[in-house]
This record gives sequence, structure tokens and C-alpha cells, in this order.
Amino acid sequence: MSAPATGGRVLIASNRGPLSFTAGAGGQLSARRGGGGLVSGLLSVAAERDVLWVCAALSDADRVAARRAPDGRLGLDGTPGGAGVRLLDIPPATFDAAYNKVANSVLWFVQHLLYSTPHEPQFGAAFQRDWDEFRRYNAAFAAALATAPGAGRAVVQDYHLSLVPRMLAELRPGIRIAHFTHTPWAPPDYFRILPDAVGREVLEGMLGADHAGFLSLRWADAFLDCCQEILGAAVDRTARQVRYRGHLTTVGVHPLGVDAAELTGRAAQPDVQERAAALAGATRGARLIVRVDRTELSKNIIRGLAAFRELLVTRPQWRGKVTHVAFAYPSRTDVPEYRAYTEDIQRLAAVINEEFGTPDWQPLMLEVFDDFARSLAAYVLADVLLVNPIRDGMNLVAKEAPILSRHGCAVVLSAEAGAADELGSEALLVNPYDISATAEALHAALVMPDAERVRRCQELARVSAAMPPRRWFDGQLAALEPPGEPDPVPAADPVPA
Ligand code: G6P
Repeated sequence: MSAPATGGRVLIASNRGPLSFTAGAGGQLSARRGGGGLVSGLLSVAAERDVLWVCAALSDADRVAARRAPDGRLGLDGTPGGAGVRLLDIPPATFDAAYNKVANSVLWFVQHLLYSTPHEPQFGAAFQRDWDEFRRYNAAFAAALATAPGAGRAVVQDYHLSLVPRMLAELRPGIRIAHFTHTPWAPPDYFRILPDAVGREVLEGMLGADHAGFLSLRWADAFLDCCQEILGAAVDRTARQVRYRGHLTTVGVHPLGVDAAELTGRAAQPDVQERAAALAGATRGARLIVRVDRTELSKNIIRGLAAFRELLVTRPQWRGKVTHVAFAYPSRTDVPEYRAYTEDIQRLAAVINEEFGTPDWQPLMLEVFDDFARSLAAYVLADVLLVNPIRDGMNLVAKEAPILSRHGCAVVLSAEAGAADELGSEALLVNPYDISATAEALHAALVMPDAERVRRCQELARVSAAMPPRRWFDGQLAALEPPGEPDPVPAADPVPA
């Protein structure tokens, strides 16, 4: 049984951690911040608390850093032997199978409904071997968390670590465990694509936690449905609780938002200003439809480009007057489907520019080189933001751009993004599969009267800032308080209207 062990040090576990190392020619290591929204959100939390962050070495340079540091311990700034980070030196073959083959090629595909089912997936002996490695990788995290001194609470992040809560609860009875899912959750009929034993193991693994958090009520409800239908667990929908094999897991919704002050401060830096000037110069006064994504199949970039093409066909008045700025940054390039997807995007972009471009006007500016400052510059200048994922846990781009937009941007948003829960009333919602509807929504966004666009954008910005990472994290910790303590869900930040 879990003891009420709150206060004091908190353990965080995530695959990607706050440090990313590169090795110089002489073997010297330099550390920089790990990438991605999950890391930047958690970093602001880790900097202020007594935290030990357990994460995997992702590259060879990370592995060298883990071996050089005593027991893989580093400061948050990368100092060997510091407190704050424990970098796990997981064997490369185990890491590759767990991260690339299982987490990103199977679990990600299931939760985002990405399979073309006549052909894939095919679960044979190779998958069973990969699954064994996934178990080993989760066990390495559980062992590191179980032996970390002085902590009564662990907050475990995402689908990579879905087996950790049960493993950790067995190794260290009494520790309070939260698990947080940053992806959507598939409905039972789709979740059943996983081999039966694997699907059960994932659910049972997560139910080792005392609290399971999600970004949207839709995903939380789908998880409850899976627990009931697949495990036969006792689910109380009203209280959002699951009882399974004598253990109670509460299920909560924690809709992560943006730290508006931090983002605005970053956008005021000279590098962003320079890029905004360069982008304004390059697009020569055209209206801007902006999208910023990591190149993940779930982001639906191909249909987004097709919708822009259809806009130029059905609404030819926009030719020469609108530029689509599409940033599609590399992601998970070890997974073949991702590499092929980037090539498809580049090919389609070239076709559109070939078809409609003139000596004075480039319809589409596609950039695949990651530049955070340039992304912020595009948010500042956007007239329309296009966010059309097939499915997305939240999508923070939809929350960031309205906060930075200089003239108020209209947001065309997939109804399948978690962000649609909060932004749906002021964004223009689209079915992400419907290219024609997306093209029409882009047109509606472009012709929206200025005053309406500004008003909607202000409201979108206000809502987006309501749950900055610190508050989001505190909500998960509060949910680990023993029953009878004050209301665990903190109120949203007061945001100036
Ligand atoms: C996005 C997803 C998260 C995921 C993260 C990992 O932020 O929303 O669910 O944990 O990517 O990305 P990575 O680059 O580490 O594979």
C-alpha cells in the first residue's frame, strides 16, 4: 500500500532529458539543452525544485558523458557529479529497439491512429524481441528511480515509460507515482491492434501509478475505456478512478499551456527580431499562412500543403498575395517512415511552387532546418496559423503563436488536437482529413475582419497562458496527495485579458 510520502525531493523520469552532449574533435564534451516541448516545460520546473531527473543517454556523446560522470550524475548545467540529473547509459541495441522500434514505430502509431492497416503493423518474432528490449529499457528506469535516495514521489513521462509505474511500485513500495501521457490515447477498438498481451502489459504498467494524467478529457476517457474493456478493471467514470488488483489509480486532465512571460521575453531577443525582418523582406508584404511542426507523420503536413494548393485553385484571388511559410523540422530520423515523409513533403512543396510560382512570388517557403528563433519570428508575423494534425496530444504551437502574434493571427486548428478543447471556440476547427474544408477555412481566416481576428487572437492567447508548465506540474504533484487533502487541481493562472 502506498504511504503518504509527499514533500521533499521529486523524481522525474523521461526518455529525453534536459542535456544533450556533443563531442569535439579532441573528445571534449559540450552540453546544451535537450530539445522539444516536453523538456523545456519540465526544465522550468526542475530549475526551481529539489528534483532528480532520470533520463536516457540518446547519443554516443551522451553515453560518454554518462560514463564519465559518477553513477551518471550531472548537474542541470551538465557538471559531472552534480545533483539534478541521472543519465542512464542504456546499451545502444536496447535503446534502439525500445525508442525507435517500439515507442516511436508502434506505440506512437497506435495512439495517433497512423497505420495503413491492410499492410501494417505485423507483429512477429522480431517484434517480440523488440518488446523484450522495451521491458529492459523500462526496467533500467525503474531500477534507477527505486534506488534514488530521499524521494517520496516520482513523476514518469510518456509512452516510452509506460511500464515503469508498475515496476517501480514493486521495487519501492510506498513511493507515490504519477504517470503523464503527452500523446492522445486510442479508443479500445484501435488499441486492440497491439498484441493482446502487450496491450494488457501497457495498461497494467500504467495502473501501477497512483495517478495517470492526460492532456485532454478525450484521451483520459479513452484510457478509462481501455482499462474497462481490455483489462476488465473496475472503472468509476464520474470520479475518474480505476481499481485494478486492489490498487487505485486516479485519472486526471492537466492541459499543459505556455509560460507567456518567458515566451514573450525570448521573442524580444535580437535573433528573433532579425529573423522577423528577414522573413518580412523575403515575403514582400504578402499575407502569411504559417505552420511550424516537427516532421512527424501525425502532423499531417502533406494534407496541409494540399489544402494550400486547393486554396490557390479554388480561390485564385490569393495568388500573388499569400505566402505559405511551412517549417517542418527533422524528427526521429532513425525511423524510415519519418525520412520518407520528409521527402514527400519536399517533393509536394516543389510541385506547388512549380505550378503557381511567378518571378515575383514564391507561393510556398518550406524550411526543414530547425531554427527556434525563426519559428518565433514566423509566429510574430503570421496572419493565419495552420495546425492540422491527424491527432495530437495537445499541440503547443497552437498556443504559442497567438501569444506572440503582432497583428493578431487567425488559427485554423484540427478538431483532433487536444488544444481544440480550450481553443475551439475562437479557432476555426477543421476535420484534418478534409482538404477542401481546410482550404475553405484558410480562406475564411484570410478574409476575417481585422477586429474579429484581433479579438479572437487575444482570447486564444489568454486561454493558452492559463496553465504554464509549473502549474501543470504542480497539478500532478497535488494529485499524489493522500485523499482528504485540499483540492488537488490548482486554479488557472490569472491572465490579463
Ligand atoms: C513530442 C510529443 C511527446 C514526446 C516527445 C518526444 O513532444 O508530444 O509525446 O514525448 O515529442 O520526442 P522525441 O524527439 O524525444 O522523440
